[in-house]
Amino acid sequence: MGMMSSFLKIGQISDTHIRGKYVLSQDVMTLQNFVKVIRDVQKKDLDLVVFSGDLAENRAEEDYEVFFKLIEELKKPWCFISGNHDNNLLIEKKSPVPIHLIDGKLFYKRKINSWPLFFLDSSSGIISNDQLEWMKMEAEKEKGEVILFVHHPPCLCGHRFMDANHALQNISEVVDALHQIKNLKSIFVGHYHSEMKVDMGCGQTVYVAPSTQMQLDPNFEEFKISSFRPAWRMIEYKDGALSTKVHFL
Ligand SMILES: [Fe+2]
Repeated sequence: MGMMSSFLKIGQISDTHIRGKYVLSQDVMTLQNFVKVIRDVQKKDLDLVVFSGDLAENRAEEDYEVFFKLIEELKKPWCFISGNHDNNLLIEKKSPVPIHLIDGKLFYKRKINSWPLFFLDSSSGIISNDQLEWMKMEAEKEKGEVILFVHHPPCLCGHRFMDANHALQNISEVVDALHQIKNLKSIFVGHYHSEMKVDMGCGQTVYVAPSTQMQLDPNFEEFKISSFRPAWRMIEYKDGALSTKVHFL
């Protein structure tokens, strides 16, 4: 990979859980938090903004309308994946850019500054075999490092509540498949509403982004909100080396 192409700056915004229709205090805060994050991310020099799933809370058309209207303010390239709260058909209906579902799933590859970025769909609670096979095949075509975004962490993370109640359902298959992709080093996920960094073995690291809605305490067995501070993740590759930092607002 040449010098020119090795620079990449991505902002990752996760688990926005928009609930625009209902005006309850927590929902107002969810929207306000989201707007705060958008305004912060907007100020940064970025090649791409990735929304890593759970865009809307209740599979409601109105919420996707609110979501897509708000992200228009970014005025930067953006893309998204879906999470377990999302509905791909509604997203397809409301997205201002055409999206292409394959068997109802939203997975694709996109090149930014020559970096191959992969986006997989775990919205059903699993990452399907056809996606894993597709990614293996596509990643093999790439000479340099590839990067993966997916909503669910592909492994357990040491988050007591989320690991026990909301983990990806086919972890062992997924870990096996990802370990075979030798040019994959970093996997960026959301879903756990926590900032985490997990060693997945074979030189692969999972970076969990916090939510813009609220954060969950990883040290409790029960659902326990640790903070309502919204956050987003900065991902930066310079000369091929990754640095990443979570910004809490
Ligand atoms: Fe989720």
